[in-house]
Amino acid sequence: MRIEWSGRAIDYTKEELDKIIEVAKTGDPQTQGKYKDEFEAALRGYFGVKNAFAVANATNALDLIALLSGIKDGDEVIIPGHTFCATAIPFGRQGAKLVWADIDPETRLVSPESIRKNITEKTKAVVVVHLYGMVCEMDEIISICKENDLVLIEDCAQSFGAEYKGKKAGTFGDFAAFSLHAQKNITTLGEGGVLIVKDDETAKLAPGVRHNGLCGFDFEREDYWRPAMGNVELDIEGVWPYNFSLGEVQCALGAMLVKRVDELNNKRIKRALHFINEMKDFPELTFQPEKEYIKNVYHLLPAKYDGSESGSCSHDVIRMLSGEYGIKAIVQFHPLYRYPLFKKMGFGDADCPNSDDFFDNMVSFPFHEWMSDEDFQYMIDSVKEVLTKLRNK
Ligand SMILES: Cc1ncc(COP(=O)(O)O)c(C=O)c1O
Repeated sequence: MRIEWSGRAIDYTKEELDKIIEVAKTGDPQTQGKYKDEFEAALRGYFGVKNAFAVANATNALDLIALLSGIKDGDEVIIPGHTFCATAIPFGRQGAKLVWADIDPETRLVSPESIRKNITEKTKAVVVVHLYGMVCEMDEIISICKENDLVLIEDCAQSFGAEYKGKKAGTFGDFAAFSLHAQKNITTLGEGGVLIVKDDETAKLAPGVRHNGLCGFDFEREDYWRPAMGNVELDIEGVWPYNFSLGEVQCALGAMLVKRVDELNNKRIKRALHFINEMKDFPELTFQPEKEYIKNVYHLLPAKYDGSESGSCSHDVIRMLSGEYGIKAIVQFHPLYRYPLFKKMGFGDADCPNSDDFFDNMVSFPFHEWMSDEDFQYMIDSVKEVLTKLRNK
C-alpha cells in the first residue's frame, strides 16, 4: 500500500519527545503525580470547565459516567446504533437496556427526532456521539433532555476541540468522555482519555471511583504510616471502584498536546475542505455537510457513495483504490445492533434505516495528520480517477 490506514494519527514534536524521555527518566512518582495535575489544569483551561479528569482511555471515562450517572438495572439509555462499540458497552455493563437511535442521513450524527421517538418512562439517559469530529444538533438535544429530565452524556472520543455555536463539544452535557487513542486527533502514546463532569458534587466522587477508592484521612495523623498509608473509602453506596489512572509520561505529553490541538485540528480542517471541494464535480460522493455554526474537526473523512447511476457500489470504490492505487480506505462503523455480542446480550433489534444505509454505502478515506502533502494530493487524484472509471464502467 502507498497510503495505509495508519494506526498512528500524529507525529510528536522534538519538545514532546524530549518531555517523554525526561519524565520517563525523572518522574517520581510515575503515576498520580504533578503531571496529572498539570494535564487536568490544562484541560480545565482549554474547555473552560471546573471538573476534568485524566483516565486511561475513553471507555474508562464512559464506565465512570455509567456509574456516576446513577444508571441501574433496567434503566433505558438511548444511544446511536452508528458508533464505535465502546460508546455502548459501559452502559450495558451497568445493566442498562440499550435503545438504538438512528442518524440523520446528511450529518450522519444521531438525529434529535430519533432520540425523541425512543423515549419511554424508563429512559434515564441519552448518549450523543459527535462522530467523525462533527458536533450533533445540541440545541434540540438539550431541549429534549430538559423536557424529559434525562441525563445528557456526550461521547467526544472523536471530537476534541470541535465546537457548536462557539462552545466546545464536551461542555453541553452532564458528562463527557474524550479519547486520546492512537488514531485520535491527539494521542498520549496510544491510549488515554478524559472525563468531564458538570455537577461539582458528582465530580467530587470521580477521583475515588477512578482509583480504587484511595483517599486521604479526614483527621490529622500523628504518624504518617498509621492507621494506614492512605485510606480506602467511597461516598457512594454499594459501589466497587476501578483503577483507570493515566501514567505521568502520558499526562505530561497530554498537557503539551492540549496547547497544540487547535493547530493540529486546523490542518485537518483545511485538508478536509480541500478534499471535499476537489470532489465537487462528483455528487455521487457526499460528505458531512459544512454548517457555519459547527466547527467540525474532521477526525475522519467519511463519505457516502451513490453508484446507482453506474450500477456500482462503495465496495467497488474501496476495491479499486486499494487494488489499483495502493490506498487503503475502509468502512466504519458496523451498526452495533448487527454485532454478535450485542445480539447475544439482547440488543439486536433496531429501527435505524439511515444507519444501515450509510454503513452499507460508505467509504472512509485514510486521514492521518502526518500524511505528506504529496500523498494527500495523490489520494485526491486517485479518488477522482476511480470515480471517473466507475462512471464509465
Ligand atoms: C465514538 C467512540 N467512543 C468511544 C471510543 C473509545 O475510546 P478508547 O479507545 O479511548 O477507549 C472510541 C474510540 O475509538 C470512539 O471512536
